[in-house]
Amino acid sequence: MAMQIIKIQDLVFTYENTSQAGEALRGVSLSIKQGEFVGLAGQTGSGKSTLVQLIAGLLPAPKGTICVAGLDPSQKEDFRALRRKVGMVFQYPEHQLFDETVLSDVSFGPRNLELSNPEKRAQRALMLVGLDPAIGERSPFALSGGQRRRVAIAGVLAMEPEILILDEPTAGLDPEGRNILLSVVERLHREGRTIILISHRMQELAPRVSRMVVLNEGQVLLDGTPEQVFSQQEKLGEASLAPPPVTALLQQLRAKGWPVRGDLFTVPQASEEIISAWRQRC
Ligand SMILES: Nc1ncnc2c1ncn2[C@@H]1O[C@H](COP(=O)(O)OP(=O)(O)O)[C@@H](O)[C@H]1O
Ligand SMILES: [Mg+2]
Repeated sequence: MAMQIIKIQDLVFTYENTSQAGEALRGVSLSIKQGEFVGLAGQTGSGKSTLVQLIAGLLPAPKGTICVAGLDPSQKEDFRALRRKVGMVFQYPEHQLFDETVLSDVSFGPRNLELSNPEKRAQRALMLVGLDPAIGERSPFALSGGQRRRVAIAGVLAMEPEILILDEPTAGLDPEGRNILLSVVERLHREGRTIILISHRMQELAPRVSRMVVLNEGQVLLDGTPEQVFSQQEKLGEASLAPPPVTALLQQLRAKGWPVRGDLFTVPQASEEIISAWRQRC
């Protein structure tokens, strides 16, 4: 059985500076196995970014317990070790590119962590995100939006983290840019990394992840396979989350009495389901 690489119990977190009462996380318990690919969904404000920043040790100590690869993210002395284990890709990571060339930017992390051969690591990371290492000579600012974002992700991968967290990595990209990026994430998972992918687009998560965790108002509302999550129509509605469009179509047909499943989420599966129901219509 795979090891639990992240163990979270009864996590409660309140931002110090908030004027409005209320906790950002209200008792979250969650364990993630090594090599798992978890999709984290939930409305804006449900606590997704807070949860992953706590995992990465980027916020003050919460209440409850949290253990990441044997380290305690709330302990200052574990922070350096944690930075090597957990790679965090923030929203719009390309805003943090700053160096003159792509290579010096991507090798910044490993240099800063005093890892050996920072430039070799950077070149490997560029290849991992599907960019030609020759791009290393160019200025990050001369690249397209989608390329810049992949450069920023390479900067995190260059530190070779075991756990990779991506917070809304496809926001603001066109469909092609989104697909390229998501296939990069899928490949990183196949190579054995533990991945937490945040998105409010359920259709983006469902076909890729083995497990979906849905947060609502700082609590875990649903946790299971995409099929298990999408079959909980009422709870999804409670969190004001829409299932993928193709799942919604199946659920509407079901409501009209069609004998179809309401938990499928890919177009080929759904069309097969609808065609076979249609064939049996009389
Ligand atoms: N830096 C901050 N200071 C104060 N409150 C915050 C801060 N960041 C988030 N919050 C609040 O914490 C709650 C959870 O936010 P967040 O974790 O960003 O949710 P999500 O990523 O799901 O949109 C929200 O109520 C939000 O307003
Ligand atoms: Mg967020």
